[in-house]
Amino acid sequence: MRHSGAAKKPISSRDVGNDVLVGLQSYQKTLPSKYLYDAVGSRLFEQICGLPEYYVARTEIALLKSAAAEITEGLPPGAALVEFGSGASVKTRLLLDGATDFRLYVPIDISETALSEATHSIREDYPGLNVSPLVGDFTQSLTLPPAAAGLPVVGFFPGSTIGNFAPWEAKSFLEDARNLLGRGSSLIVGVDVAKSADVLIPAYDDAQGVTAAFNKNLLTRLNREFDAEFDLDDFEHRAIWNPQESRIEMHLVSLREQIVGISNWVLEFGAGETIHTESSYKYRPDAFREMAEEAGWQTSRIWISEDPAFAIFVLKAQAGPNS
Ligand code: TRP
Repeated sequence: MRHSGAAKKPISSRDVGNDVLVGLQSYQKTLPSKYLYDAVGSRLFEQICGLPEYYVARTEIALLKSAAAEITEGLPPGAALVEFGSGASVKTRLLLDGATDFRLYVPIDISETALSEATHSIREDYPGLNVSPLVGDFTQSLTLPPAAAGLPVVGFFPGSTIGNFAPWEAKSFLEDARNLLGRGSSLIVGVDVAKSADVLIPAYDDAQGVTAAFNKNLLTRLNREFDAEFDLDDFEHRAIWNPQESRIEMHLVSLREQIVGISNWVLEFGAGETIHTESSYKYRPDAFREMAEEAGWQTSRIWISEDPAFAIFVLKAQAGPNS
């Protein structure tokens, strides 16, 4: 699909990822949301977590603070704590402070910068804790570092990041996590609860425009890494509540009809056409419990905050064939 008006550019030495091209050539254009989290994106996300509208982070932190002692009480001593998408490792501290002795911390994150900064500061503040970071995409198959051998394992997946998977992906993530963490493991998961659109929309489209900048950073990244030519002024951030799917959808809306070059490809956009960049699914606690059970996890306890409701689940691995 080449447009006569667009000059052909030389093939980029850094080829556009297949996932990016397939997404941008679909009928509903999409982009893989993991690209949101480069160094700039990770920093913008930390800023989102401090916004008044973004109740998610604030509510989860308050809930973790009040429940930390109870949560960690039920966990085995001397465990390895494995965190999926650790970012700045802020919430981790609440667990580390609640329990006397985690022996090992394994933060996993796709942003190398965020991971090395967090590793440095955790090492500084918890000198007795062994820290073994893993850079990478936690949706791909992982192996625990050798230091985890023989230790009881506790997984930590906060931030309602599990809500950024479609339900079938969330279930398969939970199955994979059950296999990775192994027999006798626990998993602490933060899950956002379905609620009114009046509360949800501003949380994903704040007054200061930080969420908009976070979403648009995807385009900046494509411009820089894949020789794309997105004009950021020609796109706008939009958050939509989809009640059928129980999810918030993040889109980038093309403000006019336009042709955009990316590497040696061109993309056509109609006015008002969108790129769907991320979804954030919101669960009823029962529905989440059921999904976890189908994926090999027994719900041991649930804490739910006052409105705006947010849930923390402590899951225990069901006995199964995997060690
Ligand atoms: N896990 C976060 C959430 O679903 C991710 C997130 C927050 C996000 N705000 C966003 C993703 C804006 C894309 C755009 O709440």
